[in-house]
Amino acid sequence: MMLLYLFLLGTAHTAQSIYPRIRLSHKELLQLNRTWVFQAHGASLQPQTMLLDEGHERIYVGAKNTLFSLSLDQVNTHHREIQWASTEPQIEECLMKGREKSECANYIKVLQQYNQTHLLVCGTGAFNPVCVLVRVGHTGQDKLFSLEKDSIMSGRGRCPYDPNSPSTSTLSRGELYIGLYTDYWENDGAFCRLNNQTYTRTERDDRQQLNEPKFVGSAVIPDNEDRDDDKVYFFFTEREMEAEGGNKAVYTRVGRVCANDKGGQRMLVNRWSSFLKTRLICSVAGPNGIDTHFDELEDVFVLKNKDGKNPEIFGLFSTTSAVFKGFAVCVYHMDEIRAAFNGPFAYRERPAHHWTPYEDRVPYPRPGSCASKVNGGGFSSSKEFPDEVLRFVRSHPVMYRPVLPQHRRPVLLQTEQGRRKLTQIAVDRVQAQDGHYHVLYIGTDDSVVLKVITIYNKDTDSMEEVLLEELQVFKVPAPIREIIISPKRQQLYVGSEVGVAQVRLHQCDLYGSECADCCLARDPYCAWDGLTCSRYYPAGVYPKSRRFRRQDVRHGNAVQLCNGLQIDDEQRPRSEERLVYGVESNSTLLECVPRSLQAKVLWFLQKDGNKHEVRGDERVIMTSHGLLFLRVRSSDAGVYVCQTAEHGFVHTLLRISLHVLRGERVESAINRANDGDGEKAAAPCPFSLGPLPGPSSSPRALVPSSVPGPHSRLWYKEFLQLIGYGDAQRVEEYCERVWCSDKKRKKSKRKYTSPGGEKRGKGRGEENSHRVPRQTLDA
Ligand SMILES: *[C@@H]1O[C@H](CO)[C@@H](O)[C@H](O)[C@H]1NC(C)=O
Ligand SMILES: *[C@@H]1O[C@H](CO)[C@@H](O)[C@H](O)[C@H]1NC(C)=O
Ligand SMILES: *[C@@H]1O[C@H](CO)[C@@H](O)[C@H](O)[C@H]1NC(C)=O
Ligand SMILES: *[C@@H]1O[C@H](CO)[C@@H](O)[C@H](O)[C@H]1NC(C)=O
Repeated sequence: MMLLYLFLLGTAHTAQSIYPRIRLSHKELLQLNRTWVFQAHGASLQPQTMLLDEGHERIYVGAKNTLFSLSLDQVNTHHREIQWASTEPQIEECLMKGREKSECANYIKVLQQYNQTHLLVCGTGAFNPVCVLVRVGHTGQDKLFSLEKDSIMSGRGRCPYDPNSPSTSTLSRGELYIGLYTDYWENDGAFCRLNNQTYTRTERDDRQQLNEPKFVGSAVIPDNEDRDDDKVYFFFTEREMEAEGGNKAVYTRVGRVCANDKGGQRMLVNRWSSFLKTRLICSVAGPNGIDTHFDELEDVFVLKNKDGKNPEIFGLFSTTSAVFKGFAVCVYHMDEIRAAFNGPFAYRERPAHHWTPYEDRVPYPRPGSCASKVNGGGFSSSKEFPDEVLRFVRSHPVMYRPVLPQHRRPVLLQTEQGRRKLTQIAVDRVQAQDGHYHVLYIGTDDSVVLKVITIYNKDTDSMEEVLLEELQVFKVPAPIREIIISPKRQQLYVGSEVGVAQVRLHQCDLYGSECADCCLARDPYCAWDGLTCSRYYPAGVYPKSRRFRRQDVRHGNAVQLCNGLQIDDEQRPRSEERLVYGVESNSTLLECVPRSLQAKVLWFLQKDGNKHEVRGDERVIMTSHGLLFLRVRSSDAGVYVCQTAEHGFVHTLLRISLHVLRGERVESAINRANDGDGEKAAAPCPFSLGPLPGPSSSPRALVPSSVPGPHSRLWYKEFLQLIGYGDAQRVEEYCERVWCSDKKRKKSKRKYTSPGGEKRGKGRGEENSHRVPRQTLDA
């Protein structure tokens, strides 16, 4: 019931295609120079965390026992590494505690830019967390990347014990903010701030503050110009507090504290005096008023804006149901988040009761606000807050209003059963001719990155998802663990246990060589510049920018946009012409595969001045590779036109002339050739089976690419093999005789005319008939 319902939702919600417009395999990405992959010693890399350092043009990867520094230009060249394994006694102690060997290693889970010259790096240290500073950068020519040995310190409260424990951290003005389990047994989930002298944290064992949290993300976001008013936001899931034995649902939360919160003086000592949280909602309205909620936060991405105060928050969610996994992306605005925190506090009489808005007097200064000038400057530190305020905030950490997403709905939804799982998200803001777009990069559990834009239609209040590209960034399937985006370099850095891949965000020329191809792609990075599909730069970025650019991301209306640039489609000389030979009663494939997986393929047969659509039947089948004739008849001969339709734009890809050879004729041709000896067979040169097609690339059909050329010999060999003439060696000999090259002719001349040399010559000739053909054929 629920499954069916979700399925219906998925189809009703958006206009979406499950096919990407372009799908690129790992091999293709490598061939296109679109990607590079860093693999450490061929072993599994197990990256735990990654950090982008554009200042030093490096990306750091915290892995098992090793910290890597990779080049942002090309991740697989000039890498550096620091080995930082646990010591033997540490590993032994870990094993004594009953842990697995694989867990008893130093997994680097915290990686922060401490200052211009140093990273703060923390690892699990075989269940004994440890931190250290790492020197980075360069002095003159010397590249620096080394552990500061005398800076090693305990990592307790900064790094979890367990490599699989979820944690999040952010560093701002020398202070580390971190959400983690602070203890060996994973009982104490806390959100903390640490520097080397003080710490502030959530209350221990206060299930009202945090209840079995799973930490996902965090960011420091200023409210205004007053740095003392900066807030730290963190994103997590937790179990709802219910009465004894109640069903404890999982919720996604956004929590926040003041960055400068030092806790109270008499109460809440070293505890947050500003901790508040509320629920993040990501749901789809059902037909009968029942919403389907996506409550499990998988990943969060904070898309910064210019002044840093109003980033957009992208959450990747899944359903909490064990039976059914659906995924959704919701976008939140800071206005909405702030409004929830400025709204009423939540209140309930007892855990079994419903939450209601707290309506009594709220003490001053408002609980949750920071000690800052903006708030009147009456308090220079949280330590001066009245007890009444601290008491209130301690007993009312939950806000009544949840945060709703933009447009009150997900921007992206995946609800079909059995599809791949979505694991990570990164987002780029791209300026296009018709507005700005968010390009979503979504990592999956099978090494794929999906590049998607979502378009909101105000008139219909609906969302359109456009799946631009599906990129298989690793050779073998593995869950994507991290995606970091560098808008400056227009690159993605993608981590999985297999390695770290670097992928260029766009490759416009791939969409095709015509205006329509470019326009239909709807890629906001790309536009038609009159000659090619190339990177689009908004006006003013490059003052001497080129001609008029054609781009229509919103509608992909190629008919309108490329009007006048296209010759009448019917007469275009551009569409490729091919010649295909079928043998009567045998199968033949007319191959036609459009670049775009979203295009619909149509076939037409032109014959005797008529043109009609080929719809397919039990003998003629429309496959994703082309039109397949199971048993071709001589009446099938004609010109087949392969057209694609996409967004109302019709495009002729290919014209194929199908010639049908009569079976006996082919057989007899072969037999004739076999019966004859060398001299006889050399005569019909070139052979007279009709016009000569070029080489075939298809295993089933004879699909020459163009006019006969130097490769026709290769094609001919294949041809004979394909029509069922199985004796490869004799086919080769036969080809050799039939398709005597100039060289061969000269050779034969020598062979047969040189007196007295016949025996030797013949012997050599036999050798040649096996060796030379291969060379000439492959030449
Ligand atoms: C990829 O790079 C290599 C080496 O730099 C070059 O030879 C090759 O032509 C490039 N391929 C493409 C498709 O640009
Ligand atoms: C960064 O911090 C380290 C350790 O406190 C210190 O030695 C170094 O001088 C600092 N670098 C800068 C540029 O402040
Ligand atoms: C850390 O402590 C040392 C010594 O107590 C102090 O000199 C240094 O400034 C402190 N660093 C920070 C970032 O507070
Ligand atoms: C082609 O058809 C003929 C006649 O039906 C048959 O003998 C021959 O084996 C077929 N060849 C192939 C390659 O199917």
